[in-house]
Amino acid sequence: MIGASLSRWSMAYFAAALIALFAAEIMMTAGFGFPGATVAAPETLILVHVVAIGWLSLLMCGALLQFVPVLVVQPLYSDTLALPALVLLVSGLAALVLGFLQLGGYIGTSFPFLAAASVLLGCGFALIIWNLGRTLAAAPKLPLPAQFVTVGLVCVAATVTLGIIFALVLGGTVNATSLLVLTGIGRPIHATAGLGGWLTFTAMGVSYRLLAMFMLAPDLERPTTRAALLIGTIALAVAIAGGVIAALTHGNPAIALLAAFIGGVLALALYGADVRHLYRARKRKNIELNSRMTAFAFASLAASVVLIAVLLGLGQLEEHIGAVVFLVAFGWLSGLGLAQLYKIVAFLTWLECYGPILGKAPTPRVQDLVVEPRAVKWFRLYLLAVWAGEIVLLAGLPLLFRVATAAMFVATIGIAGEILRTRRLHNVAAASRLPAGAQLPRLLISSHA
Ligand code: HEM
Repeated sequence: MIGASLSRWSMAYFAAALIALFAAEIMMTAGFGFPGATVAAPETLILVHVVAIGWLSLLMCGALLQFVPVLVVQPLYSDTLALPALVLLVSGLAALVLGFLQLGGYIGTSFPFLAAASVLLGCGFALIIWNLGRTLAAAPKLPLPAQFVTVGLVCVAATVTLGIIFALVLGGTVNATSLLVLTGIGRPIHATAGLGGWLTFTAMGVSYRLLAMFMLAPDLERPTTRAALLIGTIALAVAIAGGVIAALTHGNPAIALLAAFIGGVLALALYGADVRHLYRARKRKNIELNSRMTAFAFASLAASVVLIAVLLGLGQLEEHIGAVVFLVAFGWLSGLGLAQLYKIVAFLTWLECYGPILGKAPTPRVQDLVVEPRAVKWFRLYLLAVWAGEIVLLAGLPLLFRVATAAMFVATIGIAGEILRTRRLHNVAAASRLPAGAQLPRLLISSHA
């Protein structure tokens, strides 16, 4: 991996992210939040943010701290800032959850948890944006994947700003009329900026690089990649800036969101064509588990787009918005996240342990750190459970949904167990595990390679 050393805190981000995923799956299995409660209920807001901030955003931040330097062949601006950012994000999420519990009447105290969450999450995300932004800014030229990430960072700033406004309004800290109006109708803009702009667009950028790297395919700088970037960026600007302007001028943000959806579909179609090209142009003939599972995440993304279009056509999008968010969050973003995490941990652990002694002693291969035939059954269970969960959600069968999320939980425990075994080098034959000069990496903190 040229141009970068190991990010010290990424493993800690990944561990915190997985804990949040377990928590979300336990909540769904226990019937906490949607579909047992309405989409707008405080219980659902807790579930949504444990997934969006706790699982997906921490996973994304951990991955970006490692891979943005690789994308731009520059060192990370600051390895030190990553730890306070993690502490701020985790404590901010805890405060947000407490704030929502307060809104739901579960907590009696009048402590301003939502205002505290706004400060903590605002500072945490600002540190991440600053750190990654300075790293990107130091590059003489931004390759296309890095440009996707840049747009993603602008979108997380917009998401967090809207989230803070909502939290301050709901917590009673501010009551300016324009902010009240924005909170009343701005929720879909915040959700689109977060799930579409920050998480999906950034994942697209990083996946271009990761797929090329792990499948030994040439890096993409095709006209379709450029078009996906341009059209996707315009679509996000229309959704976010257009939506906010419409909301503040008594217009209808839904029109901006619909126009953006059409642009978004086009950008995703171009991205799909690029990804197909990457799979075909790969030099590694046998497709490894992570890339095979990533293909199923892409299928979930395509299914989400078709589902939104069909529901729009039937006039039932609002009624089924929970099912759409579930498929985007768990089929697409989590499917991609878990598949890539499985490989990323193997790759980074290998670099950390064996990188310093390469050429000096015989070392295992990256693939020796994983046992794919054992891991594949957990991934299959996870994906089948998500798709079953989606079907029963659409069919309005909440009890069966809880069975599906229980299966997702079991599968995620299995996948996390495999990742843990990889990190501890349990899959490497004892005789070749630690050649002279190699050290077992620590679980949560990486040493520089
Ligand atoms: C970073 C990624 C984020 C994503 C993907 C995200 C996603 C979402 C989604 C999908 C909803 C709608 C949920 C529903 O209707 O049940 C929502 C609502 C909300 N979000 Fe976020 N969010 C993020 C960050 C934040 C942050 C940082 C804050 C606060 C500091 C926040 C505060 C809120 C509030 C208060 C609502 C409820 C708005 C209302 O009731 O009008 N969000 N978010």
